[in-house]
Amino acid sequence: MSKTIIVSNRLPIKIIEEGDGYALQPSEGGLATGLASIHAQGKNNWIGWPGVFLNDPKQTTYFTSALRERRLIPIFLDDEEIKGFYEGFSNEVLWPIFHYMPNYAVYDLHNWETYVKVNERFRDLILAQAEPDDTIWIHDYQLLLLPGLIRSALPDASIGFFQHIPFPSQELFRLIPWRKELLEGMLGADLLGFHTFDDVRHFISSATRLTATNNNSNKLEVDGRTVFVEPFPMGIDSNRFAALSSDEHVLKRVAELKLNFGEQKIILSIDRLDYSKGILQRLEAFALFLLENPAFHKQVTLYMVVVPSRDTVPQYRELKDQIDRLVGNINAQYGSYDWYPVAYFYHGYPVAEIAALYNMADVCLVTPMRDGMNLVSKEYIASRNDETGVLILSEMAGAANELIDALIVNPNNVHDIRDALLFALNMPIPEMKRRMKSMRAIVFKFNVQHWATLFMNRLEEIKTVQSTTK
Ligand code: G6P
Repeated sequence: MSKTIIVSNRLPIKIIEEGDGYALQPSEGGLATGLASIHAQGKNNWIGWPGVFLNDPKQTTYFTSALRERRLIPIFLDDEEIKGFYEGFSNEVLWPIFHYMPNYAVYDLHNWETYVKVNERFRDLILAQAEPDDTIWIHDYQLLLLPGLIRSALPDASIGFFQHIPFPSQELFRLIPWRKELLEGMLGADLLGFHTFDDVRHFISSATRLTATNNNSNKLEVDGRTVFVEPFPMGIDSNRFAALSSDEHVLKRVAELKLNFGEQKIILSIDRLDYSKGILQRLEAFALFLLENPAFHKQVTLYMVVVPSRDTVPQYRELKDQIDRLVGNINAQYGSYDWYPVAYFYHGYPVAEIAALYNMADVCLVTPMRDGMNLVSKEYIASRNDETGVLILSEMAGAANELIDALIVNPNNVHDIRDALLFALNMPIPEMKRRMKSMRAIVFKFNVQHWATLFMNRLEEIKTVQSTTK
């Protein structure tokens, strides 16, 4: 029986430090839950990084076998690989360029070489696992070279690639010194998936301008092979959030939180620490709202969760300092002994607590400067079983193409966000429900299982057509 090998930079389970030792813990996030149903089938397995480097070879052997028992195959990156591949190239070149922030990009030949080396290490691990009829499904920008590396070793392999972040206009993409190598790596796949039609268009335009490739609509001819490029907007595990939202522990927690804030309205903001998320601009818009709406003082709190992320990368550390300062300024300027306008938390939280926050919040404010999809917006919708609540969503998030009943804002326009806040806080319940109901229909229909099945079926269909036309 053939199998599917899922490959992503992070495994769905991570090794964390605990006391004097280490323990296993589920990685949160859409990818882990999204692919769980595919991973659970047959003898499918998953290759990726468990998030730490273990110095002790005994520990490495122990955790390798503990993970392998769950059909998870770890790749341990050493410090130099983490610096060059993960921090340096993935998060200081690809991340800023793909999110339209070229000023943050740092081009370093050594980091590029490490990126190549780590992609080759992933290849070697895949080749040790793969049998001729297997399907290989590679994920995200950390592994752009991998489809090409596998294709050279296994010319007939069935290879899918999905990118979870935006693909930029070729005017941005072409800034990268190694742009051609990256595209050639991606073009090793049979099917390339992106969240939106715009990403597809941008990829095709880069591929046809920068490599010797021709396109016929969304099909590219590459060395006698056809590569399909298509949009697959990712969903979430909607039923999980709906179920959590009626769980008695979660409801108890919602009641506690509501008691704490009394009659105040709560605006919720949850993101990883990232400059692409527009956290500073959001705070500035909230400050403007407070300045112009004294009637809302003591009547509203911005409950802001920032989840620590990539804080070894300098731009992320600086952002953390800027957020700390701005929150301090707002609270100092508008706060009083019995009210802080911004309740700010720099922690990760278990999903049950996040579900409680989604249920406590009257408004969810999601204003990334760029986002491939943005799953927080969908999680908020799925959590609102009583169909109340208002979503304010950036037009720069992939999700804005689907959640058209959100209040859509330009994240660069603080006045636009201020207006949306006022509108959201005053929205009559029937309007809230009408909007929420239609967004819930979308989030429940196009869930993550639907997304994964659609991608896999399409890949299978493409392979079948290819083999019959050979
Ligand atoms: C984004 C990326 C993922 C990444 C996640 C967390 O969602 O698309 O590939 O895993 O951020 O970032 P981290 O650097 O902690 O893996």
